[in-house]
Amino acid sequence: MKSTTIYDCSIIEIDKHHHDKGNISVVENGNTVNFDVKRIYYLYDVPGGESRGGHAHKDLYQFMIAASGSFDVILNDGELKRTISLNRPYRGLLIVPGIWRELENFSSGSVCLVLASLRYNESDYIRDYDQFKEYKKISKGNLNINQIEPK
Ligand code: TYD
Repeated sequence: MKSTTIYDCSIIEIDKHHHDKGNISVVENGNTVNFDVKRIYYLYDVPGGESRGGHAHKDLYQFMIAASGSFDVILNDGELKRTISLNRPYRGLLIVPGIWRELENFSSGSVCLVLASLRYNESDYIRDYDQFKEYKKISKGNLNINQIEPK
């Protein structure tokens, strides 16, 4: 998944069941998200001013929700950047593979809930930005070759 762009990432509204005693939001495989959830993790107690992320994934899809509070996600495909503010528990961000992401501006008490398509695997990470740029460049090379029309 080298040739993805920030436009392949999208905000998805999550079903919200409103009740006077509180709300419920539901995420289902194949319904809300287009992948089967293999792993859930959450970031919390992030100190003020701290940033997280700073890496890309080769194959992993993620669905990220501000379950509480707010934070910003900066998406970067090696050419374009886009900042998404997550601040509602009924709205999530689908991040496709091949996107460099940084998370910052965590509000106090915020919780970043992440639903992931694969179990944790360090070899799926690209943690070096130069390597990431190289990874994306190679994909463009491949794309050009594939786009050559047969005579
Ligand atoms: P990382 O994904 O780099 O955190 P972030 O993107 O939020 O800054 O994860 C930090 C460390 O946590 C990583 O080196 C190993 C551990 N970790 C796991 O063991 N399992 C997991 O599912 C995740 C997400 C992280």
